[in-house]
Amino acid sequence: MRSRGQRAALLCRRLVAEGTRHVHRRAPRCSSQSISGRSRAMTEEAKKRAAWAAVNNHVQNNQVLGIGSGSTIVHAVQKLAERVKQEDLNIVCIPSSFQARQLILQNGLTLSDLDRHPELNVAIDGADEVDLDLNLIKGGGGCLTQEKIVAGYAKSFIVIADYRKKSESLGEQWKKGIPIEVIPMAYVPISRALAKRFGGVAELRMAVNKAGPVVTDNGNFLLDWKFDKVHNWREANVAIKMIPGVVETGLFIDMAERVYFGMEDGSVSVREKPVH
Ligand code: 5RP
Repeated sequence: MRSRGQRAALLCRRLVAEGTRHVHRRAPRCSSQSISGRSRAMTEEAKKRAAWAAVNNHVQNNQVLGIGSGSTIVHAVQKLAERVKQEDLNIVCIPSSFQARQLILQNGLTLSDLDRHPELNVAIDGADEVDLDLNLIKGGGGCLTQEKIVAGYAKSFIVIADYRKKSESLGEQWKKGIPIEVIPMAYVPISRALAKRFGGVAELRMAVNKAGPVVTDNGNFLLDWKFDKVHNWREANVAIKMIPGVVETGLFIDMAERVYFGMEDGSVSVREKPVH
């Protein structure tokens, strides 16, 4: 007598061999699907733990908070809304993107802007990669310019991420390149200038489910610069910003104060800015 798992594996093999187009009943989940489902759940749990730790440790009454963008920040905003309600906190939120603005509104939080609140107590945001010096690559979700502005006017910038973002050196984990927001008319000369000056290749980010390029919240294009060696990121960041037409880079240098990484084993690992 075969076990349920053996029967499912057999059926999986048969469906793959036959092709599934004629099969109308629900196909059993193949083990590779369950593994990717499990790993997705683990990553989501890691994001949540990092986000909750940051909100629990850094949010206090009467603060102006910067709200980042991406999928990890969703957990932070949910936790924040819960705390605001339970503890009757007076918190004003400054969004770093259209998505962040929606999140703030959907969770019933108080929305403001830099005109009314030019100084923030804390900004919380995700990252695509973090190195040992707390240099970050950001902009995987295309929101780097407003994210850098919001983080830049906060007294404290706290990063939340899952274990996949934890590196020793930038480029170790994140293979999609450094996002660079550019004025549309200049994307070709900027790509050429980047490759000539720093090597690697800069590609125009194309949209999914829309023909043409990704257009940022600011109406600009994004280049993803796939660098081919480790640079002095502080110098590279300054030099890239000097290229005419570059609006902002996804290199966040010397900005983050602390990073919370949700780990695979359910723990939260904290990385502080090293003292040199
Ligand atoms: C968006 C960002 C995000 O913070 C970064 O991409 C991390 O996203 P996620 O939390 O989904 O991993 O910089 O531009």
